[in-house]
Amino acid sequence: MLTKKDIRNEMSRKLDSISAEKWKNWSKEIADHLVSSSLWKESGVIALTVSRGKEVDTYCLIETAWKQGKKVVVPRADFKQKRMSFFEITSFNQLEEGPYNLKEPNVESCPSIDPQKIELVIVPGLAFDKNGSRLGFGGGFYDRFLPKIKAQTIALALPCQVIPFVPTEPHDCLIDHIISPAGFLS
Ligand SMILES: Nc1ncnc2c1ncn2[C@@H]1O[C@H](COP(=O)(O)OP(=O)(O)OP(=O)(O)O)[C@@H](O)[C@H]1O
Ligand SMILES: [Mg+2]
Repeated sequence: MLTKKDIRNEMSRKLDSISAEKWKNWSKEIADHLVSSSLWKESGVIALTVSRGKEVDTYCLIETAWKQGKKVVVPRADFKQKRMSFFEITSFNQLEEGPYNLKEPNVESCPSIDPQKIELVIVPGLAFDKNGSRLGFGGGFYDRFLPKIKAQTIALALPCQVIPFVPTEPHDCLIDHIISPAGFLS
């Protein structure tokens, strides 16, 4: 059986090989499914990460959320404690470069947000299956964070990121819904 590490390596390679055009079109299709969902429409405070490389584009989603008057909150990671804190951003200028090319909120200019106020979490990850199992980037950040909140969770997946079976361990949190270019998978 493939290990989490095997799948992370393989998925990073696959993502790198996606053309910019496909990435853009798929990201747009996924965003359309998300923003027309009742979950999105009913959520006023949305947590998401700022996409890197060939992750599904979240810049457009963040802009849409702002235009619709929603609060956009993004995490800042504490790599020693393996914990995240969330801050509201109202402009991309409030982001700064963190470790691993992460775009993180500048804590001086962004208000911190009580995680209990978050209504919807767009959870990042490398691979997903139809049961909602998720393979993240290996820090366990979301597996520590999600059990503490009640918000619904959605993952956005390019076609190659939906695989038949994601190996999981007891601490791994299931994601409520996965959206691919074809629509909601679960
Ligand atoms: N709730 C938890 N309490 C303690 N340790 C945890 C918890 N969740 C995950 N871990 C630890 O974190 C490490 C990484 O977990 P895992 O491989 O599931 O990462 P991941 O889900 O890919 O990461 P991320 O959510 O940051 O993208 C594991 O060693 C795991 O034991
Ligand atoms: Mg995990």
